[in-house]
Amino acid sequence: MPSTFVAGVGKYLPQQVVTNNDLIKYIDTTDSWIQERTGIQERRFAHRTEETTTTMGVAAAQQAIERAGTTAQDIDFIIFATLSPDYYFPGCGVLLQRAMQMREIGALDIRNKCSGFLYALSVADQFIKSGMYKNILVVGSEKHSFGLDFTTRGRNISVIFGDGAGAVVLQATDEPGTGILSTHLHSDGNSAELLAMYNPGTHANHWADKNYAHFDQAEIGQMFMSHQMIDEAQNYPYMDGQSVFKKAVVKFPEVIMEALNKNGLTPADIHLLIPHQANLRISQFVQQKLQLADSQVYNNIQHYGNTTAASVPIALCEAWEKGMIEKGNLVCLAAFGSGFTWGSALIRW
Ligand code: UT7
Repeated sequence: MPSTFVAGVGKYLPQQVVTNNDLIKYIDTTDSWIQERTGIQERRFAHRTEETTTTMGVAAAQQAIERAGTTAQDIDFIIFATLSPDYYFPGCGVLLQRAMQMREIGALDIRNKCSGFLYALSVADQFIKSGMYKNILVVGSEKHSFGLDFTTRGRNISVIFGDGAGAVVLQATDEPGTGILSTHLHSDGNSAELLAMYNPGTHANHWADKNYAHFDQAEIGQMFMSHQMIDEAQNYPYMDGQSVFKKAVVKFPEVIMEALNKNGLTPADIHLLIPHQANLRISQFVQQKLQLADSQVYNNIQHYGNTTAASVPIALCEAWEKGMIEKGNLVCLAAFGSGFTWGSALIRW
């Protein structure tokens, strides 16, 4: 059975740097609050009209494909992870396929938010191991700056998120002990509403106080998105930050240890842990819990904020560009977020 190795990595960060002090113009917050609670100093925002989640994904993909020494025409399958797609449907996978003039290959969209890239990586790994595909493009991309509440009302969320994209090209190898050693995926839907964007959606909770048995179909059609929802700011994400934090600091170490145990390894064997960049305090907590040295953990949330599905591939790419990952190194990826969903992957580079 072949295994899956990372043949190329790429990233794209929009040019516009937005500092914490820039946000003070719109939001009652301070640079010290943001830095103390999250570690974030600045983030990037995409160009309002000329950049989308797909265009950023394409830029990251082009770099990953080039570094893999392959071409867009050679890609067998696309997996695109995002929570901020260009359209409600179709997904960004087909938009990327069109933009890159790829063959009529399959394109899968993944909606697992912060752990989207881990889920995408795991799916790709199974396709390659089974022999179904040999050359898979996995992209994580987000344009958060278009869908957040940039008023004081939304400050616990809006100060955290940033835009950007990361990508990897995965290929098959017969070299024993190389590539993705294992992936581990989990979910707990009991907490789905603790970090969520409820609208637009088909749940109709907004209308729960109304007896809509008497509504005609045209009125029901309007339940999907109404003026009232917009007026009441119900089209923005909601997060119970403390509950998410408490769960994250338990599940991150747990799923990393699951991967290590599965492969007969220990935290000391990790050359580089790349955790999803949700909050620097969470990464530091995980580092402490697993007794990892500073050199074993890569963080860049200080400069990009939380880029959700893009954060792990951006960090992976940046660490690789800095020469921090070499052949034979053990790299651990881990993520936790909305759903809740979480996951990990161990890669022998
Ligand atoms: O990637 C997806 C997964 N997400 C996460 O992993 C996020 C996990 N959670 C967190 O990172 C933290 O909970 C936050 C950074 C989001 C918030 O930090 P916190 O220490 O949990 O703050 P809090 O929500 O408990 O709010 C504390 C205070 C509140 O004021 P009062 O009620 O104590 O007067 C908030 O209103 O801080 C206030 N606050 C702010 N103040 C200044 C909330 N946001 C801000 C802000 N600036 N941006």
